[in-house]
Amino acid sequence: MTRHRELHLGLVTTGVGGPGQHNRWLDPEIPGDASVNIDWYIDIVRQAEAAKFDLVFIVDSQLITADSPPHYLNRLEPLTLLSALAVATSHIGLVGTFTTSYNAPFNLARRLASLDLISKGRAGWNVVTSGDAGTAANYGLDEHFDYETRYGRAAEFIEVARGLWRSYEDDAFPRNRETGQFLDPAKLHALNHQGQFFSVAGPLNIQRSPQGEPVLFQAGDSEFGRNLGARFGDAIFTHAATLEQGQAFYADIKGRAAALGRDPDQIVILPGFSVTVGDTDDHAIELDQYWRDHDHSFEQAVAELGRAFGWHDFRQYDLDAPFPVEALEHAKRSFYTQAKRITELATSEGLSLRETVLRSRQSWRSPFVGSAETVADQIERWFTARALDGLNIHAGHPSQFRRFTQDVVPLLQARGLFRKDYTQTTLRGHLGVTIPANTRAAELQAEAAE
Ligand SMILES: Cc1cc2nc3c(=O)[nH]c(=O)nc-3n(C[C@H](O)[C@H](O)[C@H](O)COP(=O)(O)O)c2cc1C
Repeated sequence: MTRHRELHLGLVTTGVGGPGQHNRWLDPEIPGDASVNIDWYIDIVRQAEAAKFDLVFIVDSQLITADSPPHYLNRLEPLTLLSALAVATSHIGLVGTFTTSYNAPFNLARRLASLDLISKGRAGWNVVTSGDAGTAANYGLDEHFDYETRYGRAAEFIEVARGLWRSYEDDAFPRNRETGQFLDPAKLHALNHQGQFFSVAGPLNIQRSPQGEPVLFQAGDSEFGRNLGARFGDAIFTHAATLEQGQAFYADIKGRAAALGRDPDQIVILPGFSVTVGDTDDHAIELDQYWRDHDHSFEQAVAELGRAFGWHDFRQYDLDAPFPVEALEHAKRSFYTQAKRITELATSEGLSLRETVLRSRQSWRSPFVGSAETVADQIERWFTARALDGLNIHAGHPSQFRRFTQDVVPLLQARGLFRKDYTQTTLRGHLGVTIPANTRAAELQAEAAE
């Protein structure tokens, strides 16, 4: 029997303002310390849970400059934050962004498995390789890894984490007071991994959770990134500016997964969007325009354009001269896919730096702006056209998030697109992705027989 295809909703919390939202914190409804205020997070995540959202999604980075957006300048570390949210909520999934470039597999696998148990099976890991090249200097390295190394490490890191999460079989702990047997040692498996990037003996000192192991998200858009997502991802975090772009990405990832022998329905595609809901379509368009004019000045946008290019400073160039293509060199170990896209657009259309900045500001424009009815129609259109399996919604202005949960979600529910109540208790359950089998015992048996 095929499962009813259901829309998924995530909440992205960017407190006092993420990329493109440098002045968001001026909204009097947002506390000035929102990004480091646990009460603020608990409140907004409980709103999402009351609206039956699948998950809350915490983005992260470990490098700032004075030009970074306010949320990035001063924010809570994701795993610590999610552990606090785990005990303040009961159903919503808890997804954090953790880099494979500046973590050790044993340590991260352990902390994620702990979150998965604390939350009773609601943990998720957004696997990234760190786009901010300067992060290297915070970890004693002269420069960030090149792409091949970044993504080679990422694949091996995931394999190690999954191997560690399978250290114990489900019935490894008899905890039998009569016989005095706590552990059945035959059900405990070391990893003994010796790879190109990591050597990890294992086993991990923590059992599996009600969802087996944390849900794997992936975000990274290069060929390397897409292949990683298609191979390991239970879900993909991405951006889509138009329905056609969304459809192309969706088909691409599902095609790559199918080519690897995976069931494409087992990968959930969740692009991130801001949503503006007004009393009428015109009212929403007005609100959206007002915020886009005020969230970010042109000067802030010029400085922020540098992020994809390893925080290269574009203020040194003449704004009305052709876009300085030599800047792409600085993106080689940073957000190269995004920087290349911007550079190609500028060169193919002969844009000046000023025009390039204006065009990249336009790319923040959301396709989901209108009355509640219009926004619900748009979401249904994108979902039906397979441009997405769900939306990761940037909470933005608190009044707007309330309008979404109170006005749009009931329409999606009435149309049978979105759940009216939780029917599952784990994040895998909400997303409809299966619990991975613990294959360690079978693998070891096969190795022994060789
Ligand atoms: C939608 C999206 C969200 C991302 N979120 C994060 C993030 O929160 N933290 C981070 O370090 N990197 C994030 N990344 C970037 C990855 O770290 C990746 O290294 C970067 O995009 C460059 O790789 P790529 O060329 O494969 O995209 C994100 C990427 C995408 C596409």
